Amino acid sequence: MKPDLTPYHPIETASIDELRALQLDRLKNSIRHAYDNVAFYYHYFKSHGVHPRDIQSLSDLAKLPMTTKAHLRENYPFSMFAVPMDQIVRIHASSGTTGKPTVVGYTENDIQMWSEVVARSIRAAGGQQGDMVHIAYGYGLFTGGLGAHYGAEKLGCTVIPMSGGQTAKQVQLIKDFNPDIIMVTPSYMLNIADEMERQRVNIKKLKLRVGIFGAEPWSESMRQQLEQRLSIDAVDIYGLSEVIGPGVAQECVETKDGPTIWEDHFYPEIINPETGEVLPDGELGELVFTSLTKEALPIIRYRTGDLTRLLPGSVRTMRRMQKITGRTDDMLIIRGVNVFPSQIEEQVLSTKELSPHYQIEVVREQNLDKIKVIVEIMPEKNRSTTKPTQLIADHENIKNTLKEKIKSFIGINTEVDILPTGKIPRSEGKAQRVIDKREPV
Ligand code: DLL
Repeated sequence: MKPDLTPYHPIETASIDELRALQLDRLKNSIRHAYDNVAFYYHYFKSHGVHPRDIQSLSDLAKLPMTTKAHLRENYPFSMFAVPMDQIVRIHASSGTTGKPTVVGYTENDIQMWSEVVARSIRAAGGQQGDMVHIAYGYGLFTGGLGAHYGAEKLGCTVIPMSGGQTAKQVQLIKDFNPDIIMVTPSYMLNIADEMERQRVNIKKLKLRVGIFGAEPWSESMRQQLEQRLSIDAVDIYGLSEVIGPGVAQECVETKDGPTIWEDHFYPEIINPETGEVLPDGELGELVFTSLTKEALPIIRYRTGDLTRLLPGSVRTMRRMQKITGRTDDMLIIRGVNVFPSQIEEQVLSTKELSPHYQIEVVREQNLDKIKVIVEIMPEKNRSTTKPTQLIADHENIKNTLKEKIKSFIGINTEVDILPTGKIPRSEGKAQRVIDKREPV
């Protein structure tokens, strides 16, 4: 690793008291800003009988009602903005699977703050001024590409704005430019790693030392696999467009113990997703964020849909979140058992005969949900046998092994389908893990 050149932002190592005082001060301003400048918040707070002056402590935040994606959609496209349009310098939007996209806006100061937290994130991931950063998150309305880009520039890195797609070219540039850091979704990194093998890239000759992976859930097994295959440190970056984009939280390379939340800008709470009740640190629930410094789109108690728990700070004062295992809306209920795709991922990745690419098909039979795990066998050269008769027997063994693992670790019965290498669609951004074949009710 290179010596530390870029210092931390002072707030990263400030005392808890200093941090809490700053948060409270900023929280009051942010709530007042939302109430005074966004009609939605004004009416919403009024209808719940609360006023910004009722918020006198951080725990008073719980008095305010929560904001959801539906509220943003109802105010499509720009009615959640708290500043006149001539102060908006950037728009992003998240596509969503149904209906209108969620639109977010940024002032010049918002872009500065976002760049600052992403620069801080790359620094925490082990990056520093002078590093070359290959960005394979998509550029465009998605916040991944441009968010990473501005942060890397802010840190003083050399940026390769590759965006997603053109996998063969990604590998060519990685070989020729020799970046130190790559920022990309973990599923697309796997796809790029496969292409590196196809192009017979000698990993040992690459300078690549850190992968900053996020925008989708990924398991510890995936981390191990990416680290081994690419000989890098793989760290988790978390964020969502409604709160800013990437850089809401970042895992520190020295501990890899879950993303540290940049709490001086984004105040986290964990709630019981059914009752909305605030849960104490350490308990599992839905992550909710309140922005503390955003100008264009102040967001108050936004329900992320992401399930995690808040953990005490480790190498920073700020709290961490446990690596996200899933979203409330990704959870499958199979004969009464709650299952997340990432749990299945752990089992697929721990089966050495299988490639790390997988999909989960959900069907409904006689009112009961069932899942089929679709996996791929490792490419031929990585297998112990290539004889066709032996392979058929092997397939049955591998299927049974995976079924048994899923049964014993997760507690559900599944079907397993093994496809030939390359048959599962490859991701170039966020992977689609679940194919829902249930009839809509
Ligand atoms: O995915 C922002 C981002 C870009 C984050 C690049 C990290 C890297 P959205 O498209 O609005 O924004 O999607 C946000 O993606 O609520 C999570 O469900 C999921 N997500 C983001 N990061 C992670 C992560 C970007 N590290 C939604 N682990 C969030 C698990 C993640 N899920």
